[in-house]
Amino acid sequence: MAALPSETPTNQEDEKRHAAATALRWVRSGMVLGLGSGSTSAHFITLLGEKVQAGELQIQATATSQASEALARQLGIPLLEPRRGLRFDLTVDGADELDAQLQLMKGGGGALLREKVLKTASDYLLIIADSSKYVAQLGRFPLPLEVVPFALPWVLDAVEKLGGAPVVRPNQSQPDGLYRSDQGNLLVDCHFKVISEPEQLALQLQAVPGIVEHGLFLGMAQAAVVARGEQAVVVRA
Ligand code: 5RP
Repeated sequence: MAALPSETPTNQEDEKRHAAATALRWVRSGMVLGLGSGSTSAHFITLLGEKVQAGELQIQATATSQASEALARQLGIPLLEPRRGLRFDLTVDGADELDAQLQLMKGGGGALLREKVLKTASDYLLIIADSSKYVAQLGRFPLPLEVVPFALPWVLDAVEKLGGAPVVRPNQSQPDGLYRSDQGNLLVDCHFKVISEPEQLALQLQAVPGIVEHGLFLGMAQAAVVARGEQAVVVRA
């Protein structure tokens, strides 16, 4: 595991903003970008929007969530609708956990499906993260699954058989008290404590009908910017 600087960290929000600002170095005019979701990605979109408004960058983009799309639109970033053949030069996104091999856990913000779709259409995935996300082994953060509502009871059974403790993600502002993804699906957060064999778990989850997508992103990221304090370390695959 690459060593991060050991100085006393500043606050997490500063680290997120610092990682996002560092990621701007990867962006060139003319690029088509994928925009991630979550608070670190929101910092990136905001800083990118400032560059676009200042006329310093000419880019086009597609966002991985309705929230990121709304933010990008508000900032005047030209947006592209999904269409056949659309490819992204670079997608910049956050993560809930990443390790030294750039194995990722994502989906804490509930946007894992669109994030994986855009990643698959991208030539390069750059992860931006504060230091708390950099872990020796995945699994402390509960693994999110996007689940078709009809399949929920059997998905919960299947996750338990795989050794996980599933929790259906709540959202008190919804009439049924449950969180919905942008696709109208449920989110199930699975506590595994430690995920020692992520590739195997990913295959097992993919085989369960009703699990639309899981939050393990393996072998997908080319690089990550991890901020600790005022420093940013680039981790490469
Ligand atoms: C959303 C994600 C986010 O990238 C992840 O949850 C990190 O979020 P934040 O930047 O707010 O810590 O995967 O689905």
